[in-house]
This record gives sequence, structure tokens and C-alpha cells, in this order.
Amino acid sequence: MIPLTGYSDRLSAAPGERIAFKVSSVATGPYRARLARVVHADPNPAGPGVKIEDLAHRFSIERPSRTQHLAQGSYVRVEAATGLRTPGPLTVTALVWPTYAATRDQCVISRWDEAGGAGWALSLGPGGATARVGGALVVGTGHPLSLRRWHRIWLVADPASGTLRVGHATLTGGGREEASAPLPRAAPLDAAVPLLVGARLAPAAQDHYNGKIEDPMLLARATAAPETLVLDPLLPPDGLIAGWDFSRGIDGLDVADVGPHRLGGRLVNLPTRAVTGARWTGREMCWRHAPREYAAIHFHDDDVYDAGWATDFEFTVPEGLPSGAYLMRLSAEGHADDLPFYVRPPRGRPRADVLFIASTYTYQAYANHARGSTDAAYRERVAAWGASPHIPDSHPDYGWSTYNRHRDGSGICYSSRLRPVLTFRPRYLTFLDARGSGLRHYSADTHLLDWLETQGIPYDVVTDEDVEAEGAALLAPYATVLTGSHPEYHTARTLDAHAGYLDGGGRLVYLGGNGFYWRIATSPAVPGVIEVRRAEGGIRAWDAQTGEYYHALDGAYGGLWRRNGRPPQRIGLVGFSGQGLFEGSYYRRQPGADDPKAAWILDGVTDTVIGDFGLSGGGAAGFELDRADPALGTPAGAIVVASSEGHGPSFIVVPEELLSHLATVTGEKPARLLRADMTYAELPGGGAVFAVGSITFCGSLSHNRYDNNVSRILRNVLDRFRARR
Ligand SMILES: [Fe+2]
Repeated sequence: MIPLTGYSDRLSAAPGERIAFKVSSVATGPYRARLARVVHADPNPAGPGVKIEDLAHRFSIERPSRTQHLAQGSYVRVEAATGLRTPGPLTVTALVWPTYAATRDQCVISRWDEAGGAGWALSLGPGGATARVGGALVVGTGHPLSLRRWHRIWLVADPASGTLRVGHATLTGGGREEASAPLPRAAPLDAAVPLLVGARLAPAAQDHYNGKIEDPMLLARATAAPETLVLDPLLPPDGLIAGWDFSRGIDGLDVADVGPHRLGGRLVNLPTRAVTGARWTGREMCWRHAPREYAAIHFHDDDVYDAGWATDFEFTVPEGLPSGAYLMRLSAEGHADDLPFYVRPPRGRPRADVLFIASTYTYQAYANHARGSTDAAYRERVAAWGASPHIPDSHPDYGWSTYNRHRDGSGICYSSRLRPVLTFRPRYLTFLDARGSGLRHYSADTHLLDWLETQGIPYDVVTDEDVEAEGAALLAPYATVLTGSHPEYHTARTLDAHAGYLDGGGRLVYLGGNGFYWRIATSPAVPGVIEVRRAEGGIRAWDAQTGEYYHALDGAYGGLWRRNGRPPQRIGLVGFSGQGLFEGSYYRRQPGADDPKAAWILDGVTDTVIGDFGLSGGGAAGFELDRADPALGTPAGAIVVASSEGHGPSFIVVPEELLSHLATVTGEKPARLLRADMTYAELPGGGAVFAVGSITFCGSLSHNRYDNNVSRILRNVLDRFRARR
């Protein structure tokens, strides 16, 4: 546990609006929270250094310390079952597809009253399917179930005959095992507690299950052959007390009971819905077309959603506080943490003609990305530079990112911002960068904010979530809109907002690489969460399973925007083409730089080599590279003014451009696609886009006290884009 940390209920607010902060502190005395503004969050001593402006005179309070915990593991909680009475015989059964062989029991379904010594639990573990009754393990089938196969499991309690049976059978026939034992007479089956699917209450949820569960149900009878049971909502089995049909409400957190009492439940910690079930045939790939084939939920013992911490204090953004990147700085007894947030301009009243969109969806996709790269040299640099000390590798306790896998090997497809996010911190080093700072995302994007400050260019800031909520109207008042270094994750609405802004004559400066790439889903029913399905292709951290390419949250086909008919080139002129290690190279001036329509971009730049320096990998063109491609939507008339070269041997062409080891989609040689194209286009309707196509570009802006060709180019672009109104 991190001694002092927290999160806020939202990432941006306008003057007059409130942000609630939730803090956990192990300090014995109170902690202090102070307001600060972030200009530059890069601790590299070779650069301008950290610039954080203390604003304690605007806001500073002391609050008592208290520890707050994050309970991991997903399950269904059926509160309404508390009042259920089942005095007679009972059959409990479910379909299961277990994914993780733990050394402990993993509970599939339970109604458990630990204190009262009552209730029952049906679990899977090293001893096979096990039945617990009245506070003790009574009987198990003996052998663990095979993983990633569908089984029906059951618990049958018959007070009349005094027997308890537990068993399982594979759905494909065979593999039936059953064991029985005397039913403890003193142990009442009935417990006046909630029913849980995927965990056991004792007294907090524990024994979390890993794998899929489908059609859990209770019947008021001692079934002789439970393996034949089927939960058919139209023809319920005899004696049905409750049966949960997970194919209903797949896009939400509610779980429906098709039984007579309608004992609906609620998901806790966001297990994965819209996954293939026991009845999935492959006939349909979209859950909306055949919901009963998607009647399973995949639970994980490391799922997290809303940490649910109590609010410690609220901060009301004062009128007149300029838009920008801010921190709530926490400190207590030698512990410290910084909670970032953004102040928007007053609603409907822009304060500048430049807008920076903080790529908060991308920050969130990478939230708590554990890279397994925390070695001694990295730690040494963190200490030497005073970098952010808490690394996700060492803190699985807050849940990891959509670049990680769950304990059972399945990909993490949801990321919540309602939890401490260690990567979303100033001074956070992503890489041990031999030639630079190794920053990405939140901290890397302050290279741009710092440059804007030094240039005296006023700017407003909004987040991806703001853009999603308000669309092109939020961008329209600005002469120019700037992305950060990696605007990778987008919903249909955020893409629409960018497209609408350009259609209306807006001017976009795309200052990153691998932007506008993955499609994500959000839902008002599950606030604070993004969903990504790593479908089909692309540079991927894991592969979504066949049949599971459609989002649960909005029912749309997931994966790359390119595979959804909206390649990145349509917004940003360029799109993902090559990737390697976090190394920066340079651009070489191209003939397009002399085109009269674009010659102003390199005004004052006489060098043919551009950006062979910088704090991100040592060069302005690096790590992830985008190139122009008319076939993918780069508009006619786009001009490439410079292209990168000299990328190291680690660089590869993205899979979606490769047909074989030699052949590419475009017909060019693979090595030819390893480049970033610095591109400019004027659009019909007066709009324009300038794109750099590289993640490391902004790291070069501060070189030589901001006097360098990268800085000059961006200055030329902003001067032009701001002037032409
Ligand atoms: Fe990325």
C-alpha cells in the first residue's frame, strides 16, 4: 500500500465547479493538501527541470488521516436474496469455464453467513468442486476441473435424506464426477445474507473466482441428475427459485433473475460481459445478434472498478483561475503524492485562441501499466532525479492497465480512473531512456505546455472526456487545437468532434504518433471507465478472444479505428506505420518543404536534418511513427515537408501494414514504411492540419533553451494557425 495517495471524482472542472478528492493516508497526524499548477513535469536535470508553481495561497487545507483500501475481485451481489427462505431441499448449479488453477478455493456461488454458521457455498479448487455448508468444507469431488472447458457444477442438499452431493460434468459429455456426504444436521442451509456469484461473503467478499460463469440457478428440489438441467427463461425448470440470465443487460451493471422472485443483482468491480458462453456456436460474432450465446460473465480476482473511497475534501475551482494543468499536492510526515487534474476555461467563455486536449483516455488506457521493467538502474535514476517513486510493477493492489493481463492470462479490457493511478503523476518515468527522460503520456505532454508558456502563447485545456461530452462545439471557438504526444484512444464521439472541428474550418496540430488508433467504448451506466477490445490486428498487448470483438458497453465493433472504416489519416493526415524501442531519430527535409503552400512551415529553418536532439529518446522522430497514405485517407494535396529516417534495428512495421514477411499492403518494401511524415494539408472549408507523426516530437522543443528547428517549426505553425482567423 502506498502510504499517502488518492484520486478525484473527475479529471477536469471549470471555475465554480467542484472536484472531490478521496485520500488514503497512513500518517498518524493530519495530511495537508495544497493547490499547485504544473508547467513542466520532467525531472531530467539535462532539461529545463520540474516547474510546479505553488498555489497554496489559493487553496490549502489539513485533513485527518485515514487509510482506505481497494478491494479487488469481481462478483455479482444479489442483495435481494437476503430475505429469501429455502427451508427444504436445494439444488445450486451453474455452468463454469474456469481459467485459473489456484491453490485455494474459488467460489462460484454462495449464500454464506460466517458469523451465524449458516448457508452454503459451491466452489472450485484443488479438491475439485466443493460444497461448504454451515461454516465448514463438507465434501469435494477430488480432482480439479480442466481449465478453459465448459462444465456444469452442482450442489444438492436434501434435508429429508440427510445427504449433500457435489459434482461436475463437462458439457460435451463425460467427465462426470460426484461425491456425497451426510448433510450436517446442525447447519441451516438458509442464511439471511445476500447471495454472491463469483465470491463468498466472510464477512467481506473473498474466495474470488477466475473464469466464466453462466446460468447460475437455485431450485427447491433435490435433483437426481443435475447435469441435465437447463435454464430456459421461457420454460423454467421445475422448482426454480432463482436463475440469473446474464445475457440480459450486457451493456450495464445489473443482472436479471428470470425466476419467480425477480432477485436481480448488481455487478461489483466490473467483470467482463459480452463474452462467449457455453452455447456459443460461432454463427454470430456480435452479442447483440445472439445474446443467449453470450450469457456468460468472465470474473477475475483482480478486477477493479470504483475504489469507492470516501471523499476527504472538495475543491471548488475559484473564478479567475486560469485554465491549465493543476495538482492537489498531498503531504504528511515525509509522505507525499500529487493528484493531477485540469482546470477548464469558464463554460462557453474561451480564454485563449489555442486549445490543448489532454489525452486522458490514453492516460487511462495506460493507467497503472506494469511493464516488468523496474530494475536497479531504473530505481537509481528515480532516486537521483527525484522522480515519482511509486511504480505499478510494485503495486498490483490498485489494478493494472489495458496493457496488462489478468492473473488468469486474459487481457484487461476495462480501465477505471476511480482509483489511484501511479502512471498519472508528474515526474513519472516510463522508461530508463539512455538518451533522454523516458517520459510518456501525462508527464511527456508537459513538454508541450512548458513550451507554450515559454513562448508566451496563452492556452486553454480540456480533456478527452470533455470533448466526448460536448463535441465539436467545445473546439469550435479556438483558432487552433493541439493534441499531446499520444492521442491514441478515441470513441466515435471524440473522433466526430475532431472531424466536425475541421469541417468547420478548424486547424488541428497533431503533435504525436500512433494517434486516433484504438476504438474505445464508454457508457453513462458505468462512469469513469473505458473499454477496449484488442481485436483483429494492430500492435497489441494481448489478443481479444474470437467472438469477443464487440464492446459490452456500447455494442460496437472494437479494435482499430482503421478496421472500423475510420483510419487515423482521416483526422491526423498520418497514421501508425512503425514502432521500435523508445529511441528518437531525426527528420530529413523533403521537397515538399519548398512547396509555396508549405514553405512557411520551415521559415527560418535552413537545416536539412531536423530534431536530432531531445528529451524523449534523444530525437524528435521516434518510438511510434505515423506516415501519410492517401489510400487510408490522407487528403489530396497534403504536403510532406520532412520525413524521418535512421531508425534502429528494433523498429518494425505495424502488423496491419504487413501481408507477409516481404510484402506490405502498399506494395512498398517494409523498411520504407518505417518513417514519420511531417505533413501539412489545407482542407476544404478553410480548415488545416499539421501533423508530426512521432511520439517523441515534443521532447525536442526545449533543446538549446527552446531555440532549435523543432521549436521554430511549431512556432511557425502556431503563428500561422492563430493569425488566419
Ligand atoms: Fe500507445
